[in-house]
Amino acid sequence: MAHGDVGLELGTRVAGALRRGLGLEVAPVDAVIRPSAREGVDYQCNAAMSLAKRVGKAPREVAQVIVDHLDSADMVEAPEVAGPGFINLRLRDEWLAARVGGLLGDARLGVPVVAEPRRFALDYSSPNVAKEMHIGHVRSTIIGDAVLRLLRFSGHEVTPHNHLGDWGTPFGMLIEHLLDEGHAVDAEISDLNRFYQEARRKFDADPGFVDRARARVVALQGGDEQTLTLWRALVDESTRHFQQVYAVLGIELAPADVYGESFYNPYLDTVIDELTEKGLTEISDGAVCVFPPGFTNREGEPLPLIVRKSDGGYGYAATDMATTRYWAIERGMTDLLYAVGTPQAQHFQMVFAASRQAGYLTDEQTAVHIGFGTILGEDGKTIRTRAGGSVKLAELLAEAVEQAAKTVAERSSLDADRQAEVARAVGIGAVKYADLSNDREKDYVFTWSRMLAKEGNTSVYLQYANARCQSVLRKAETAPGGDVLVTAPAERALMLRLLQLPAAIATAVEGYAPHKVTGYLYDLASTFTTFYDNCPILRADVAPEVRASRLVLTKVTSDALTLGLGLLGIEAPHEL
Ligand code: ARG
Repeated sequence: MAHGDVGLELGTRVAGALRRGLGLEVAPVDAVIRPSAREGVDYQCNAAMSLAKRVGKAPREVAQVIVDHLDSADMVEAPEVAGPGFINLRLRDEWLAARVGGLLGDARLGVPVVAEPRRFALDYSSPNVAKEMHIGHVRSTIIGDAVLRLLRFSGHEVTPHNHLGDWGTPFGMLIEHLLDEGHAVDAEISDLNRFYQEARRKFDADPGFVDRARARVVALQGGDEQTLTLWRALVDESTRHFQQVYAVLGIELAPADVYGESFYNPYLDTVIDELTEKGLTEISDGAVCVFPPGFTNREGEPLPLIVRKSDGGYGYAATDMATTRYWAIERGMTDLLYAVGTPQAQHFQMVFAASRQAGYLTDEQTAVHIGFGTILGEDGKTIRTRAGGSVKLAELLAEAVEQAAKTVAERSSLDADRQAEVARAVGIGAVKYADLSNDREKDYVFTWSRMLAKEGNTSVYLQYANARCQSVLRKAETAPGGDVLVTAPAERALMLRLLQLPAAIATAVEGYAPHKVTGYLYDLASTFTTFYDNCPILRADVAPEVRASRLVLTKVTSDALTLGLGLLGIEAPHEL
């Protein structure tokens, strides 16, 4: 099957009709096929309206030509022109049933592999050394992981890179503090935040310490052997902390994926030289700046991207210029993605613009800032602990599992070990799903009760729906198989929904928008619930062929829920 998307398949047929009837070449996507909520109609074709002007005919006339030339008797019932020129399409039951039947045992559930795979570099998670990962990093990690899974499943190549904040002036004070504490180089720092704050406190109070910290930064930048060893110890210790969080979250990022800020140091001089050679730099207040066109401040003055500070040091912007150069040129990536909060939107737009000017990015390459809003507490302000501190990710995740354990224990017949595993799947899943189910650009409010609700658009609801499917399949005691049949409207609705998975995934991939998958899964689970409530499966009075067909639908639904949740990094246990 060339593509699993029913809308596109109908689009291909409509394109054929337009070619035969009007000599028009139209791409299948431009046939404007949309799912329809109208009684008795599955899809609607809206192409006639947009094409009418182009061919100088009334929309209804164009629609009639499409209908007359549509070669689709195998797929749809007699199409109808309606209203100003819509075409109502209803899939034939036999076609629908056969198509859904074909999904049984198809690991991709009809989702095609892209014809032209691209090479993505994906910057995500990217916490800072010697600071505990806080809730602000949770979104980058969760969203980045989902985007990575979606792209890979679609057939693209994705190289993740963790842009660790591992360089800069704070390392002077951190290294001096490490020495003061008499830490062995491989010592464990149990509380990174406390370590950072203690160093900070000394820095603010003790001028002698400030002098030592300054000298230490110079030594670090100068490549002093002993200083580098201490620096490495701090980076390694932080990396160990981050790996623990990734393990709890089920995130694949490994130490080998770390391309921290320091990684780009050897490229910074080259970047400045190249920008200068191309005549893109200007000296402004002693700093080397690029002024990419189109960026101005409130007074309408051009905004600088500072690539070398007046003290000769390089900063965040220079390093990010080196990231586009490295991934696009040295590594030959076609698409550069950065999952970072929206406050950095302008930074990335300027880096991308300057990178195009510099020739680091060509017209065939894309660079996208996958921005996201912040997580708010129930008071509508940035989430804080009761003591007013920033919420630590590790603590938050532990609480999620604890809360989920209560939910699971309430109605579970599982033994204690299994219950603990399920609580993990439910708790971590809820944190991820709450994040992914919102349009990522928006802020969202973090509410335990809402994210762990058994009804509504939550992962728990989807996990319960899947567990119900699995329970039916277990009780059936026969492997699902045989023909799929349409015998009731709720079956038909479920079949239509199952066939929409490819379109949902395609839209999510296109917009780096995991919430398109969550929205689809929620609709699927709701449609399944209606089917389950209306169509008995295992009851003794159900005809054997109907029972077999409904078991296939149940199995494919479970497969779709499991696949969809899996693409979001969420587990789908068989029992809850
Ligand atoms: N470490 C940065 C922060 O915590 C995020 C880095 C994002 N990636 C990048 N290439 N700038 O804000």
